[in-house]
Amino acid sequence: MKINYHKTVMLNETINFLNIKSSGVYIDATLGGGGLSENIIKKLDNNGKIIAIDIDKDAIEYCKKKFAKELENKKRIQIFNCNFIEIPEILKKSKINKVNGICMDLGVSSHQIDCASRGFSYMHDAYLDMRMGQNGKSAYDIVNFTEENKLSNIIWQFGEEKFAKLIAKAICRKRKIKKIETTLELVDIIQNVVPKRFSGHPAKKTFQAIRIFVNKELENLDIALDNCIKLLSTGGRLAVLSFHSLEDRIVKQKMKFWEKNCICPSVSPICVCKKRQEAVIINKKAITASGSEVEINPRSKSAKLRVCEKV
Ligand SMILES: C[S@@+](CC[C@H](N)C(=O)[O-])C[C@H]1O[C@@H](n2cnc3c(N)ncnc32)[C@H](O)[C@@H]1O
Repeated sequence: MKINYHKTVMLNETINFLNIKSSGVYIDATLGGGGLSENIIKKLDNNGKIIAIDIDKDAIEYCKKKFAKELENKKRIQIFNCNFIEIPEILKKSKINKVNGICMDLGVSSHQIDCASRGFSYMHDAYLDMRMGQNGKSAYDIVNFTEENKLSNIIWQFGEEKFAKLIAKAICRKRKIKKIETTLELVDIIQNVVPKRFSGHPAKKTFQAIRIFVNKELENLDIALDNCIKLLSTGGRLAVLSFHSLEDRIVKQKMKFWEKNCICPSVSPICVCKKRQEAVIINKKAITASGSEVEINPRSKSAKLRVCEKV
């Protein structure tokens, strides 16, 4: 087991914005290395509780050891290996109706990136996998069996890669000769068609796109956010840390929508939409990591923290 499973980004900011009540119930929807849960527990009394979730068995195994004493003694944390879209079912099983706060720290953990065999990294040679939940279709299936146009759309839509068409074409040409099995085989194909960039690896956007598609990251986020707002009690907070513009756009739009009290067209003389304000946005502008944090942890550079409070 690795010692540095993951370094939590904007840890203090996230914990402070959650406004933790000592006897509250909290959900850590993306447990990872348990950095956020560990700091939430510190603020809880014996009545407080955390429901901690991760889709990745490695995170669960790591955190079951990390929180072994807590799981045995005070039992303020319950750990579940599932997708965060299943939060409503988990709460039902745990006989919990509403919670006082939810945090979501999206994307991949450092462990997932650094563990070469998981196939997330364009820096290490490994089988093309990229599945956080270790089941379902892998990156190998997507890269080798997706029709060219669809593959190009995936790379464009989820990677915002302007060379998507060229990359998809090159992949399809290569896989006719031999299936693309490893990360570095894919990197090699990309490097042959993408000109060297001033910043970022040529394969960065394509890898991001395939990872997002394989793990249905944006679909899951959309579903989970809709569930989360319903599960918060009045005054409860939702804090979401995102790491790229596609995720952040979804979070920002949802929170803006929840804040609206009416969505009738402006020409409508009376309100007929029945939409009522569900939340108030706590930070109008997304919070970003400080310069000193970015220096210590470059991964925090793209992070955006958005927080809202249920009304
Ligand atoms: C950035 S890490 C979280 C790090 C954690 N906050 C910490 O402090 O150590 C993101 C975690 O979310 C998990 N994850 C991503 N999508 C998920 C989903 N749909 N359901 C549950 N867990 C998910 C990943 O497996 C990963 O472990």
